[in-house]
Amino acid sequence: MSDSHEYMFKDADRSHANRKIWICGAVAIIVGFVIGILIGRFATCPEENEAPKQDGTFLPGVSDSIIKDGDPKISEEIINGIQADNIRKYLRDLSENPHLAGTPADWEQADNLRKFWTDNGLDEVFISEYDVLLSYPNTTDEDNMNQIQIVDNSTGNIIYKSPLYEDILDESENKSNVVPPFNAFSKPGTVESDQLIYVNYGRVEDYTHLDSLNINVSGKIVIARYGKIFRGDKANLAYVHGAIGIILYSDPADYAMGQTDSSQVYPHDWWLPASGAQRGTIFLGSGDPLTPGYPATETAYRLGEDEPEAGLPKIITHPVGYGVAEKILQQMTGDNVPSDWEGKVPNVTYRYGGQLTNSTWKVKMRISTANKRVKTYNVIGIIRGAIEPDRYVLMGNHRDAWVFGAIDPSSGTAVMKEVSRVMGQLVKTNKWRPRRSIIFCSWGAEEYGLVGSVEWVEQYIKNLAERSLAYLNVDLALQGNFSLRALATPLLYDVIFSATKKVPNPDSTEIHKTVYDKWKASFPKDSSDPNSVPRSFINTCTFNLCLSVGGVGSGSDYAPMVQMVGLPVCDVRYTFDPKKYPLSSYPLYHSKYETFKAVDEIMDRGFKHHQATGQVWAEMARTLADTMIIPLDVVNFSNELISLANTLDNDYGTMLRNNSITFDDLKTVTNNLKTEAMAFKSRVDNVDKYNPLAVRHINDQLILFERSFLDPQGLPGRPYARHVLFAESQVNTYAGSSFPGLVDSLFEIEKDPDQKGRWNIVKKHFSVILFTIESATSTLRDVTKFMPVFIKDRS
Ligand SMILES: *[C@@H]1O[C@H](CO)[C@@H](O)[C@H](O)[C@H]1NC(C)=O
Ligand SMILES: *[C@@H]1O[C@H](CO)[C@@H](O)[C@H](O)[C@H]1NC(C)=O
Ligand SMILES: *[C@@H]1O[C@H](CO)[C@@H](O)[C@H](O)[C@H]1NC(C)=O
Ligand SMILES: *[C@@H]1O[C@H](CO)[C@@H](O)[C@H](O)[C@H]1NC(C)=O
Ligand SMILES: *[C@@H]1O[C@H](CO)[C@@H](O)[C@H](O)[C@H]1NC(C)=O
Ligand SMILES: *[C@@H]1O[C@H](CO)[C@@H](O)[C@H](O)[C@H]1NC(C)=O
Ligand SMILES: *[C@@H]1O[C@H](CO)[C@@H](O)[C@H](O)[C@H]1NC(C)=O
Ligand SMILES: *[C@@H]1O[C@H](CO)[C@@H](O)[C@H](O)[C@H]1NC(C)=O
Ligand SMILES: *[C@@H]1O[C@H](CO)[C@@H](O)[C@H](O)[C@H]1NC(C)=O
Ligand SMILES: [Zn+2]
Repeated sequence: MSDSHEYMFKDADRSHANRKIWICGAVAIIVGFVIGILIGRFATCPEENEAPKQDGTFLPGVSDSIIKDGDPKISEEIINGIQADNIRKYLRDLSENPHLAGTPADWEQADNLRKFWTDNGLDEVFISEYDVLLSYPNTTDEDNMNQIQIVDNSTGNIIYKSPLYEDILDESENKSNVVPPFNAFSKPGTVESDQLIYVNYGRVEDYTHLDSLNINVSGKIVIARYGKIFRGDKANLAYVHGAIGIILYSDPADYAMGQTDSSQVYPHDWWLPASGAQRGTIFLGSGDPLTPGYPATETAYRLGEDEPEAGLPKIITHPVGYGVAEKILQQMTGDNVPSDWEGKVPNVTYRYGGQLTNSTWKVKMRISTANKRVKTYNVIGIIRGAIEPDRYVLMGNHRDAWVFGAIDPSSGTAVMKEVSRVMGQLVKTNKWRPRRSIIFCSWGAEEYGLVGSVEWVEQYIKNLAERSLAYLNVDLALQGNFSLRALATPLLYDVIFSATKKVPNPDSTEIHKTVYDKWKASFPKDSSDPNSVPRSFINTCTFNLCLSVGGVGSGSDYAPMVQMVGLPVCDVRYTFDPKKYPLSSYPLYHSKYETFKAVDEIMDRGFKHHQATGQVWAEMARTLADTMIIPLDVVNFSNELISLANTLDNDYGTMLRNNSITFDDLKTVTNNLKTEAMAFKSRVDNVDKYNPLAVRHINDQLILFERSFLDPQGLPGRPYARHVLFAESQVNTYAGSSFPGLVDSLFEIEKDPDQKGRWNIVKKHFSVILFTIESATSTLRDVTKFMPVFIKDRS
């Protein structure tokens, strides 16, 4: 591969040499190699400009690297440099002990990473500290710890109580500081009810079904299985329907494919054991709840915890494993549920519920989880760009874990350490320095609601928006060993594809030679729409898909980058075969059993899939950092936008047209964007690569293109989600949602008593969408012709 690549590079250079390049009657301002000094200089013309034969012939005293792509051989050096054994060692250390956000262990890992980066050649390493509101279960007193009980109300006897901790199944988990199962930001307190209702996945449609049977959850405790939608939405919907508490459990149908025998589950296989519980936040916002929109610095103004703007959950919530669920569900009465409501908890007939099997019994939830102000830390390490240090390629991963986090997130942290080691060593030994700066970001407190990344974005949004090209996220590096899966905004499609074509398939015995070949064979193109990029192959980052495919809660740290900064983003990982395993997420997700043993002995023996994720990630970053013309593809983007507009038409076109919205205007502006994107692309193809200012000018347009899709006022009712094309839907977390503001405004619109008011919101937002697409179009136009020609006599 490397040979043909190098050949292509030289060939491109030759064709340049043959082209006549005139520098004529103009001032050429050249950016200096080391310190970026500007040199003004007149060149007399005409004069043929030969391709430089050796460094320094482009302009005396100025490195020729200004007018070239980075050395393509470095790609191979980085890919070959990334070692599976190193990743394994890093993961063993990172996941040896729990490292929950806001605890001393979290700080220790942050400080270790700072030292690691300093030792391995990064130019600058910063720690950014924020003072934020997180949440922890109270473990001072066993009689007060989080627990679900069945109590006989006539005698006060406890008939059943849930265990306080998950079982120790392997001695490697026998560690102090294992936080017991809890849902972060649950309301604390004790609630009891003699009625318990099963609400399936706790989605809108599940409550609609219950309504149709006149089953009312108001004043009662409900039990829901995990999966399909974000757990925060389950808690909120239960609250909205009047429930006083919600028990969340992992059903073996969704997390163990019905395999529940102790010989079939962890530590023998990757299936969730009966005592494994899924921790996780139920906060629906992101960032520090007390400082929305602004960084949680010392001088920040803070809301009170009960102010509505803080958006903290209002319902008592607790997660359990299917061992506990079995005991509880067995005590339920009522009619049998339909088959699509049935799970696979052993020895249980699924019923809607009501009173318990013994009418004197009641369910009690005792929750002592409490919010607490703590410090969280991001570690930011920078490799300074040689030629354009003020242009940033961001790579990020969160560091905090619920417990050992050997999958989420430490598999990603271990990979990031290896990628940064390889790049840092090349810099340290003077073999390479990227054209642009590469910034490694290790986020704190992601699990609580993207807290570290959101605070950092809030603090530095102006610098980031002006200078960044893209944000490349790896949360967990691996949740299975079948194939790569990527989520991305369309500008990055080709960057991902070309990187995956360079990385060998980690399953070397297969016929597929590269990660790309395996990926393509694993997720075949959707035959019903041959022209579109198939959703299952590469998902446009409509964040609800990230939810259902990746099971990563409210997305990951790419969310603020796209929604607040307006950056192209992607998230890559190795995953399991979704056809063989139709799971809600990998089985051990957020349980104590995400251990090094599970990864090392079961999920990625040899760490080859971790290695491949690292190689793809590094190659994407290198391409973005080293290619003279930034490889963001605006034509790919405009094609994808046309396809998204067609999907919107299929789903809502008739409804919008019925309500006097001229939907075809959307088609017009998206087609105009495509025309302009193609014109822009041909200017890119013909740009004078010997003129650094002309190149910079094209690159600036490329960088600012995605930014044009931001509406500074935010989506309707969501001031901090500003990208009009890509965000998770707020109300319909299951359905696909590009155009999230529009889709959310249309959700159940027919039920709204204020029809006129609701439709006005839709109409206004539709016009904002048209306007933002047109601004993106003007961003691409020739810079002195950014306004369309005004025609007076339009008839
Ligand atoms: C934890 O609970 C104990 C009583 O069991 C109480 O004294 C203490 O204040 C609680 N701690 C927090 C942080 O709420
Ligand atoms: C856990 O470790 C403690 C002390 O180190 C020991 O007393 C206990 O038996 C261990 N538990 C298990 C289940 O291995
Ligand atoms: C338990 O019994 C008391 C009276 O003994 C009654 O007031 C209360 O409502 C009962 N609680 C439930 C949940 O049935
Ligand atoms: C459910 O019960 C509550 C309280 O009894 C009542 O206010 C509410 O209207 C009921 N909901 C439905 C849909 O019947
Ligand atoms: C529960 O089901 C398992 C098989 O799934 C069976 O082996 C066991 O005996 C059952 N236990 C009870 C109490 O019915
Ligand atoms: C209900 O519970 C009470 C007290 O624990 C017990 O006396 C009674 O027999 C139980 N009834 C049934 C039907 O199991
Ligand atoms: C791949 O994952 C499966 C579990 O999904 C596991 O059984 C298998 O051993 C793993 N392969 C490797 C090479 O780790
Ligand atoms: C992106 O566009 C290029 C040509 O501009 C095309 O070769 C490539 O297939 C496109 N990629 C996707 C994912 O549509
Ligand atoms: C659109 O209007 C027509 C005629 O009034 C009606 O039959 C149809 O159901 C409407 N469709 C939608 C999606 O509102
Ligand atoms: Zn994670």
